[in-house]
Amino acid sequence: MQNFTYWNPTKLIFGKGQLEQLKNEVPQYGKKVLLVYGGGSIKRNGLYDNVISLLTEIGAEVFELPGVEPNPRLSTARKGVEICKENGVELILAVGGGSVIDCTKLIAAGAKYDGDPWDLVTKKAFAKEALPFGTVLTLAATGSEMNAGSVITNWETKEKYGWGSPVTFPKFSILDPVNTFTVPRDQTVYGIVDMMSHVFEHYFHLEENTLLQDRMCESLLTTVMETAPKLLEDLENFEHRATILYNGTMALNGMLSMGYRGDWATHNIEHAVSAVYDIPHGGGLAILFPNWMKHNLSVNPQRFKQLAVRVFGVDPEGKTDEEAGLEGIEKLREFWNSIGAPSRLADYEIDDSQLELMADKAMVNGEFGNFKKLKHDDVLAIYRASL
Ligand code: NZQ
Ligand code: ZN
Repeated sequence: MQNFTYWNPTKLIFGKGQLEQLKNEVPQYGKKVLLVYGGGSIKRNGLYDNVISLLTEIGAEVFELPGVEPNPRLSTARKGVEICKENGVELILAVGGGSVIDCTKLIAAGAKYDGDPWDLVTKKAFAKEALPFGTVLTLAATGSEMNAGSVITNWETKEKYGWGSPVTFPKFSILDPVNTFTVPRDQTVYGIVDMMSHVFEHYFHLEENTLLQDRMCESLLTTVMETAPKLLEDLENFEHRATILYNGTMALNGMLSMGYRGDWATHNIEHAVSAVYDIPHGGGLAILFPNWMKHNLSVNPQRFKQLAVRVFGVDPEGKTDEEAGLEGIEKLREFWNSIGAPSRLADYEIDDSQLELMADKAMVNGEFGNFKKLKHDDVLAIYRASL
């Protein structure tokens, strides 16, 4: 295990009826609030009205930025920065899924930066300051509600990158499972795949003596796998929504990454696909992750075997580590198929015509992946296996 410092300043407010906490949290930062939300789900399910009525009750002056896209775009964040700068916004409130929160992070940092916010995403500049922001999460998936990361797409240049800074943690995040009841089945599945993928990105590392970290990863995975089929049978089940929501946050709030560096190559490979084709992040991961695993099985077969045995119930008797590990990967594929996740790029009508372009985009900062450094040929091989 390596030395580490764990620091996460986000106040997590979880449970039924917790939206009311807005009345305590918002006034701590000011009266001028920019409300950021997506394409309309919060208007359809009534959450928008509830938020507005609480903000009105505390006398907030509310500005709005609707229309944040899934795979949020730079152009939308730029609009938000303008609103903040023109009106002296004091707090930004993101109400939505990971896309709304990620966009809010760029608005918050962009509002305190003189140049183009894209500089922050491309790391030409580092965000040293940001407006405070809080979130009301409506979709269990990314963990963005309790981490400092943000993923932004520049649709003009077809680039999608992750960035972040210690100033882009939400000040508070309100998670009421009821606010996730209306997430449609497909988005629920993508969220489940995404949170499991975050655990896999952690799990594949080269560090030794991570006994507790391994067990924490494995318990998140088994909990999600036990709960997901029940939730998909009953999308408005409070307990199952709560379990999945809590798992999504814990999978990417730094709790799993103490003492080692996870791999994170598959996320990079997926971001290059969704930069070009604008597919859902979780859908892309469902296609790519088992193929990344097969491609890298030989790096440390023992680790794949451990996952297979402890999480996928593979019997290792009479099998090499590699054989047991491969069986685990196949069981993951079967599980994701069983909940209706996509398994091939063809499911999104993606053929082999842009593979080179996507691989170039994935390689923009050179070789990547901490479990196994991937080169251009490796990325292409994973894309080809995913067609
Ligand atoms: O836009 P609206 O109308 O709100 O609809 C959204 C959107 O169409 C809908 N939705 C959200 N909550 C709902 C709901 N529909 C009904 N009822 C609700 N309660 O779901 C659709 C997808 O929303 P989105 O926010 O895009 O999904 P998600 O949370 O999966 O976020 C995906 C984005 O996050 C990035 C991804 O790359 C992608 O751009 N990621 C961010 C990370 C981070 N910041 O830490 C890490 C992740 O690995 C990921 O890369
Ligand atoms: Zn993800």
